[in-house]
Formats: sequence, C-alpha cells, structure tokens
Amino acid sequence: MLETIIQRERDFGTPPSTSTQMLRVTVDGTEMTVPSGTSVMRAAAQAGINIPKLCASDNLEAFGSCRLCLVQIEGRRGYPASCTTPVEEGMVIWTETPKLHELRRGVMELYISDHPLDCLTCPANGDCELQDMAGVVGLRNVRYGQDGANHLSDPIDESNPYFAYDPSKCIVCSRCVRACDEVQGTFALTVDGRGFESRITAGQNDSFLESDCVSCGACVQACPTSSLIEKSVIDMGQAEHSVITTCAYCGVGCAFKAEMKGQEVVRMVPWKDGQANRGHSCVKGRFAWGYATHQDRMLKPMIRSDISQPWREVSWDEAIGYAASELRRIQNKYGRDSVGGITSSRCTNEETYLVQKLVRAAFGTNNVDTCARVCHSPTGYGLKTTLGESAGTQTFDSVMFTDVVILMGANPSAAHPVFASRLKRRLREGAKLIVIDPRQIELVDGPHVKADFHLPVRPGTNTALLTSMAHVIATEGLIDEAFVAERCEPVAFEQWRDFVSLPENSPEAMEAETGVSAAALRGAARLFATGGNGSIYYGLGVTEHSQGSTTVMAIANLAMATGNLGREGVGVNPLRGQNNVQGSCDMGSFPHELPGYRHISDDKVRQQFEQDWGVTLQPEPGLRIPNMFDAAISGSFKGLYCQGEDIVQSDPNTQHVAQALAAMECIIVQDIFLNETAKYAHVFLPGSSFLEKDGTFTNAERRVSRVRKVMEPKAGKADWEATCALSNALGYPMNYSHPSQIMDEIARLTPTFAGVSFDKIDELGGSVQWPCNEQAPDGTPTMHVDEFVRGKGRFMITKYVPSEERSTRKYPLLLTTGRILSQYNVGAQTRRTPNVVWHSEDLLEIHPQDAEDRGIRHGDMVAVASRAGETVLRADVTERVQPGVLYTTFHFPESGANVVTTDSTDWATDCPEYKVTAVQARLVTEPSQWQARWSRFSDIQLGLLAQRQGQQDGLAADPTPASVPQTAPTPQPVVAASQD
Ligand code: SF4
Ligand code: SF4
Ligand code: SF4
Ligand code: FES
Repeated sequence: MLETIIQRERDFGTPPSTSTQMLRVTVDGTEMTVPSGTSVMRAAAQAGINIPKLCASDNLEAFGSCRLCLVQIEGRRGYPASCTTPVEEGMVIWTETPKLHELRRGVMELYISDHPLDCLTCPANGDCELQDMAGVVGLRNVRYGQDGANHLSDPIDESNPYFAYDPSKCIVCSRCVRACDEVQGTFALTVDGRGFESRITAGQNDSFLESDCVSCGACVQACPTSSLIEKSVIDMGQAEHSVITTCAYCGVGCAFKAEMKGQEVVRMVPWKDGQANRGHSCVKGRFAWGYATHQDRMLKPMIRSDISQPWREVSWDEAIGYAASELRRIQNKYGRDSVGGITSSRCTNEETYLVQKLVRAAFGTNNVDTCARVCHSPTGYGLKTTLGESAGTQTFDSVMFTDVVILMGANPSAAHPVFASRLKRRLREGAKLIVIDPRQIELVDGPHVKADFHLPVRPGTNTALLTSMAHVIATEGLIDEAFVAERCEPVAFEQWRDFVSLPENSPEAMEAETGVSAAALRGAARLFATGGNGSIYYGLGVTEHSQGSTTVMAIANLAMATGNLGREGVGVNPLRGQNNVQGSCDMGSFPHELPGYRHISDDKVRQQFEQDWGVTLQPEPGLRIPNMFDAAISGSFKGLYCQGEDIVQSDPNTQHVAQALAAMECIIVQDIFLNETAKYAHVFLPGSSFLEKDGTFTNAERRVSRVRKVMEPKAGKADWEATCALSNALGYPMNYSHPSQIMDEIARLTPTFAGVSFDKIDELGGSVQWPCNEQAPDGTPTMHVDEFVRGKGRFMITKYVPSEERSTRKYPLLLTTGRILSQYNVGAQTRRTPNVVWHSEDLLEIHPQDAEDRGIRHGDMVAVASRAGETVLRADVTERVQPGVLYTTFHFPESGANVVTTDSTDWATDCPEYKVTAVQARLVTEPSQWQARWSRFSDIQLGLLAQRQGQQDGLAADPTPASVPQTAPTPQPVVAASQD
C-alpha cells in the first residue's frame, strides 16, 4: 500500500463539509446522501463520477473559473459549475449529456488555442491535468489557430533554485494563488490583469526569488500543468515509483511521497494522507534533500591513532574492531565509567534505542545522553512533574479548534513551517493570538495575520512573565474552579494560588523586570482565560534558559488553572526542533531513564530490561553531556561514541567542548559528513541518510511515523547496522535482521509503546500516536482526557530566579539565538543544498539605536564578546529586535555563535541557556581569533574531501577541487578569549 507505482492521489474537487445535516441527492441516476454544504462536484466524486475540472482541487476553496465542470440540474436553468454549486435536498444532477460534452469541448478548445502543443517534450507529459482533460472531453480538433494574440513566448522565470515558472503553459486557473493564500498563508502570488491579459505574478511583478515566496512548493503541487514545475522533474523526467516516508528535518514530521527513478529521488511530494502535514510541506522537506547525495558525503570508515595524524580509510571490520578495542582498552585503564555515548535526534527510534542499549548493556554504564539535553529536556522535566507525561498533549489538527493561542519562545514560520501554516489558517478564521517573544516574529504582524498581543519579554524573564499572568487570572476570579477541583491536587493548587496572588508577582511589580507593560500583560491574561479554547505552543525560547524547567511548569500551571487540557483545541504543545527529538527522549537516551521515561533506579523496571537483555545494569544514573565534558577535562572520561550529532557546533561554549574532546583518547563519530566534531575523532563511521534506512521517527505530537528505505545505504551499512556491529565486536551480541524487530523489542519493554509495530503503523495509515497499548490500541491523539497521567494535576510554585547572565557594564547587551526557515540546526544538511541562496551566513540582528551607539551600519562586521568567547558576525540593523537585545542564528560553523554562549544551564536538567548571553558588540574589520583558527583547520578538511573526489560512486562531482593535504594539524585546546 505504501510503495506504489506513480499515480495521482484521488481529488474530490472541493473540501469536505463538516456539517452533520445529511441531504439526499441523485447523481446520474444514483441516489445518495451527503452532508449539507457538499458541492455537486464532490457529491458526484463520492458516487465515483469524476466531473472534468481544472481550477478545482479538494484542498482549496472552490473558485469556479475554468467552466469545465458544468452540469445540468433538473428544474434549474443553464449549466452551473459543479464545484461552486452546493447540493440541495432532492437535487437531481446530470453530469454527462451531449450539451455538456459540447460546452466542455468548447472550453478546452479555447485553452488549447493559447497553449504550446509540445506535449511530447513537455516535462509534465503524463502528469498533466490539461492533457488529461483534453482526453476526457474528447477534444479532436481546435477551431482557433495560434496565430492571434497569445502568451506562447512569455519568458520563463527560473530564479527559484527548485522550480521554474513558464507562463506560456499557464491556464490562469489560480490554483497556485489560492494554494499560496489558503494552504501556505504567504500571499506571495496574484493574478495580474484581466481577461486575456491575466497573468500570474509573484509580488509586485518580481521574480519568484525576489518576491515574498518562501518556496514551500504548494503552488507547484497545485499547478495542473507544467507552468510551475520542479527543476528536478525537468532534468530527470517523470518518476516511476514512489515510497511513503517521513521528513528528516523538523519535529512537525511531514509525510512525503518520495518519487523515484530506480534509486534516484526525482522529487518529494507531501503526502495528502499524512496526518501531521495533510499534504503540505516547507522548502526543507520538499526541496532540500540533495545533501543526501552531496559530494561531501563520507562513504568509507576511517581511523587514526591520534587527531594530529591524517585519516586512514579502512574496511568496516577494521574500523569497528579498532573502535571496540580502544573502548575496552580505555575501560581497562580508566574504569568502566570512563566511556559513554550520545544518541541522535536525527536518527530513527530504532537506532537511538540501540545506542542507549549499547551503552548500558555493552559498555556497562549509564553514561548516555542525547541532544535533547540541549533543547527540550526541561519540557520532559516540567510536564512530567505537573501532568505526569513528558510530551505534548495534542495533535496538530487540534489547532483548528482553538480560540486563543499563546505562542511563546517559538517562531514556527521559520522552525515549524507546516504547523505555522495551519496556525495562520486558524488565525485567519478568527482565533486570537498572544505572542510572547523578545523579537517581532513573522506572526506578530504577517500577511493577513496580526497578533492581538505581542509581549516582547526581556530574555531570561519568562518565568516572571507567566507568573504575573497567573496573578491576573487568580486575582481577577478567572480560574476555572470546576476543572481545578475535579482534576488537580487541592493542596498544591491552594499553595500556588497564594503564591501567584502575592503583590510582588503582579504585572505592575514585574513590569520593570520583564520589560512588558502591565496593561498589555493584563489584557493578554484576560484574553487567554476568557477567550474560549486556549492552547499554548512553545519552543526553545522557553526551555533554553536557566529557568527552563520552571517556565514549562508555569505553562502547565496556566493551562490547568484555565481548564485548557484534555480536549481538542487546547493543551500544552512543545514544538520540537529536530525530527526525532521526541523519539530520542522516549527511547531512553537520558542517563537516568530507560525507554518510556522509567527511572534507572527502579528495581522492577531495571530487572525487566536485565532479563530481556541478559546483562546486569547499573542502578545509578550516568553522566549528562555537560558532565561528560567536565569529566573529560578533569581526566576521568576518555571515550565517546557520538552518533549523528555535531556537539562541537551545536553545544554551548564551543571552546569548552573542544577542550573536552581534545582531552579524550577515543572519539567515534558516526555521521554522513565529516562534521566539526570529527576534527577531534579517532574513528569515523560513515552514516546513512533517512532515505537509506527503515525505521520510525516520533514528531512533536507523539506521532510515530514510518521512515522507509528508498535507496541502499551509500556506505554499505545503515546506522543501526553499524551499532550492532560495534556491539558484537565488544562481545555483546546484537543480531537484528530488520528494524521492525528492534521496534518489537521496544514494544515488549515499554508500556507506552506496547501496541506499536510496523504492521500496526501501516494498518493505521502510516502513523500512530503513543501511548499505544491495550488501553489505547489505536493510539492517543489527545492526552489527559479524563484524568492526568499522574492522576491529579500538580500545580508547582514557579518562583522567579533571575538568570546569572545579566547585562553588566562590560556586557550591556543580551544575545539570544534562533533559526531561519531555509537552514536547519547546525546547517550540515541545508548548507549543502541550494537553500544557501536565501541564507548564506549567520547575521547579527541589532536594533538601530544600539547600532548607532556603536557606529555600526547595516552590513558592517561586528565582534560579539561574552565571558565565554568572541566571534564576528555581519550586522543586520533591524527593529525586529528590541533595544538591548541581539539575535543571531547558528547554522554556519564559521559564525561560531556558540563560541559566545556560556555554560549556564537550567537548574533541573542542565539544558544550556542558549537564549540569554550577556555580550558587548563593537565594530571590527577582521574575523575573531577563533574564526581564523577554524578557517585554517577547515581548509584541511576541505582538502580531504577533495582527495576523495571522483572516488565515490553515486555522488555529485566536486566542481572546485582543492589541494590534497598530507597531514592534519593538532587542534589545540582552545583557550577562552575573554573572561568576565
Ligand atoms: S512556493 Fe509557496 S510561498 Fe512560494 S509562491 Fe508557491 S505557494 Fe507561495
Ligand atoms: S501557474 Fe499553474 S496553477 Fe497557477 S494559474 Fe497557471 S496553470 Fe494555474
Ligand atoms: S515542516 Fe518540518 S517536517 Fe515538514 S517539510 Fe518542513 S522541515 Fe520537514
Ligand atoms: S473546476 Fe469548476 S469551474 Fe473550474
């Protein structure tokens, strides 16, 4: 079912009606009932009758422009368009009559008279609705020639790196315009001119690249001809088969049809039945998959005895054997706990599970952690403490039932674009929006969307702000007393109410600290408490703080106090950054928790794993990532297996990380590229991309979706196979023949996954939301429906403790970090795609006032210094940031944003405080010392890549060969550039 020959998905022409009132109609003699509000076209389609159409599509509102879908209705004059005509009780409809045939042929003749007749050489040949309709209406000749006025020589717009717009093929059906408006919410396209002069234009007659287009591809997907078409289809021709899989970028977890020719991807088409994305996508998942075959892919295992030595390519057996012997040597010399592992939030659940199993069972230690440590670990802690489960409470669909949204510390238009499109659609329908963010993100004032409140909170004061919101709700009688009485612990609630009601927590008292006006905060609190279904969506701007866990608990408090949990349209929704960050947490990647968030010290749970795995497990939690670094520097932690995670670039205080890695004796890096961490590695195991393996990812909705192999692993092994090989070499057997067996083991050992299997996921149409077990055999779309997972909800006191990272005379500005749409995380994938056309370097956003005070102009180079280090970025002078706040992204290693971030962490989870760093900024003309060192070192890496050029089959050729290095330099432990 999920691997098919290419075929267009069924299109019912107009969206379904949600009405419960049923009407009786007859279509071509067939009697049926359909919901009131259904179009005649859709009713016919439901009866198996496909009325010819060109401008209609069931993901867009009916428009009625092409006049091809005409029908006859008994008792009505004329020939109404079936897409814009709703059914009525007792309606009798005829879709095929001689008159209708004649009218439709006439319409098609007009279209074809202004259309190039080059079907045989057209890239859409075989996948063109205009071509199909010509056949359907029986077009045999065209009475009008092409000699008159036409658009056949209009110039093609090829500015977008991924798709082309050929106006000569355009039939002005407006599907692209409506897709951009209704589905994507960007409003980048218009129909310019009238009648024959009508043309589709991007922006103010700009090219697609210069316009507001965000390259989501919705218009390309909507286009019935080849007017808007992927350049990959132009280059490669039509695909021959397709496989349903899941995007490997963000935590939305969009389902895609990978359309293939043999083992080559022709295009990725968002899957209409995908339950997370409902047929939509963003530029990353839709187009930025070329990194998987980029020439920089590392396809051979490599080893070296010392990081000052050059790499030596070896066989898989030799690399695995060397890694195993080094790990055992280190353990024999320094003790069992001198080694550990880091799992990846980009790898599958099955791979992540295996890495933590390897560390616990084969290494014999609990020193395993994951990159969720540096992003959403406070979500796990905060939600588990208050509600009893470490995950978001809703489906993405739920946002369509919300009335008021709090969006806090998240910028979904950039980081979770498909969710952003759903949210925008709901906002256009009338839902209210409260944005809590230091920056003016797009949703504050975007196309057809305007926040009702923007609370520009000062970085580091989230807890204070939410507590004062709770103050308003508690002191103005806005608590949902019935919900609280029925669902929450009474004593904890009373203590919380007393706490938030204290005068020092009022908006007026907190105003100076948070920078948010008391009046605006009171207005926002009242709106949230009284505006109907209230939902809270938040991101790393909440968690990556010294009080990240406290703020998550404040969010849960707010939801409980207002009764906004346990049904559609409400809830607490962490927007997860990476594709499988939810899954890597679920799979037991934390040093204190086995799969399913069960504490390692729980004897009963541990014994269950011991029996299944046939080993004795350590009852004490192991080291977290920051502890591993500290232990490495102090000499007790010497070996690390790091799968699919570039800790040098992504973790804070780069110089501290580099110092730790340089002190270790064996670092095994497994990645698809020679990343920054590999500079400190002794063993390199080539990784596999998401296209090369089977498994599952779990998105922010707890949705476990299938990842399906569309091509063989380019390096010969999928990541899970490499982990098994390492385990076997260490003497702990792991012999799975397919990832489905790993999932079966996960299900056997994890109560929330007890019902999950690859077969079950297929049976449910491609995904299932955990918990999935005997109590919830088809999964759990909404959590905490009748009671919280922990029984009664627990209000927590959220005392505001100011961040130690405060502006001082020396460091008067606060730097905060985030993402941009076209790039992803450390950029390892997106930097190797044409996405760099939109964002080729990390910029420093600075308010005009702060810039002027320092003589900085737009585009100048600016040194940003903190107590941890210094880097240089190009200035973007903008009012998106408020005075006193700087903002940058961290997608490019040479920017070194994390050279500046400090090692301040969340009090409960050690999640780094990326979002608050006290800094100074000054105008400079040269890169920082750190960047100069980085650049020299990277030249060597580039040389190594050039050396491999032409040696690897199936990868793109290197257009810019570089010199081949004979040796690599010793990376010096880097000393902090400046100290406060
Ligand atoms: S690619 Fe997306 S944003 Fe760009 S014009 Fe098409 S629908 Fe609009
Ligand atoms: S570009 Fe395609 S979708 Fe847009 S109006 Fe023209 S034919 Fe229709
Ligand atoms: S929204 Fe996220 S999951 Fe969906 S296509 Fe974009 S990057 Fe992929
Ligand atoms: S499909 Fe109905 S008017 Fe175009």
